[in-house]
Amino acid sequence: MPHSKIAGMGFYVPEQIVTNKDLEKVMDTTDEWIRERTGIEERRYAKKHEETATTMGVQAANIAIERAGLTNKDIDFIIFATLSPDYYFPGCGVLLQREMGMNGIGALDIRNQCSGFIYALSIADQFIKSGMYKNILIVGSEFHSCGLDFTTRGRNVTVIFGDGAGAAVIQATEEEGKGILTTHLHADGKFAEELAYYNPGSHGGVFLKDKPERQSNYGEEPEFGGIFMTNEMVDDGQIYPTMNGRYVFKWAVEKFPEVIHEALTKTGNVVDDIDMLIPHQANLRISQLVQMNLGIENDRVYNNIQKYGNTTAASIPIALCEAWEKGKIKDGDLVCLAAFGSGFTWGSALIRW
Ligand code: ACO
Repeated sequence: MPHSKIAGMGFYVPEQIVTNKDLEKVMDTTDEWIRERTGIEERRYAKKHEETATTMGVQAANIAIERAGLTNKDIDFIIFATLSPDYYFPGCGVLLQREMGMNGIGALDIRNQCSGFIYALSIADQFIKSGMYKNILIVGSEFHSCGLDFTTRGRNVTVIFGDGAGAAVIQATEEEGKGILTTHLHADGKFAEELAYYNPGSHGGVFLKDKPERQSNYGEEPEFGGIFMTNEMVDDGQIYPTMNGRYVFKWAVEKFPEVIHEALTKTGNVVDDIDMLIPHQANLRISQLVQMNLGIENDRVYNNIQKYGNTTAASIPIALCEAWEKGKIKDGDLVCLAAFGSGFTWGSALIRW
């Protein structure tokens, strides 16, 4: 039975560097606060009106396909993970397909936020194991800076996020013991609103009934029809993401180790067998606590949130690709990917390189 491996990877980050000092100019924050709480020093922002989640995804995908020794015509299927798509619909998968001239093949968008890349990897792995496809392009891309609140009101969320994209070609292989060994996916929708971007949406307040502080004033409404969006909601900043930071922190530091252990147990490995851990770049403090909990030394964990901020679905492929480019991942290494994020969703993957 075929299984899958990563045949090529690429990442793209926009040119524009925005430092913590730059953010100090637009909101009441400090470089010291941001570094201390998140480890972030700077992030990249995409060029407005020129770049999108799709165009950044294309840049990363071109590199991944070339490194896999393939051309666009060899790709059988596309999986695109993002929470900041170009359009509400259709998804970025079809836009990327059009841009890359891969017309006719299937394109799937997934909405699993910080766990998006691991969900994409797992879906690709299953398609390949079933024999349905041989080469699947998976992409994680985010254009966060177009949807954040750059006033002091939004500082707890805005300072954390950055823009960028990562991509990988997942390919069928018959090579024993190499490639994707296992993937594990989880979710708990109880916590959906703890880290969410829920307006505009069709909820109309339904799922926020027990959270009066998040309920919107929809004003005078017709009996049916209309959009659940008012000028007041825009003025109140209800069009921006909300995050219960402490809650996210608490759950992340519990679920990361749990799901890593799940993958190790499934494959008969132990923490000492991991050569490189690539945690989703949520927050450096979260990564450090997870590392401490597992008892892994610094040279077996790769973090780059300091330079790029949290790029959600793009953070794992960017970090994985950068670690590989720096020679930190070698043939035969056991690589562990792990993520936790909005939903809540979480997951892990073990790959024998
Ligand atoms: N600059 C300066 N002060 C700030 C900022 C900021 N950017 N943001 C919040 N503050 C202030 C708050 O207003 C508050 O002030 P107050 O005491 O006068 O009310 C004070 O700092 C403390 O605020 P808290 O929200 O309680 O700060 P906390 O210590 O929890 O740190 C943080 C906030 C960094 C968000 C933390 O909760 C955290 O790391 N949570 C994890 C969230 C995370 O990593 N999210 C990533 C996205 S999800 C994912 O990828 C898994």
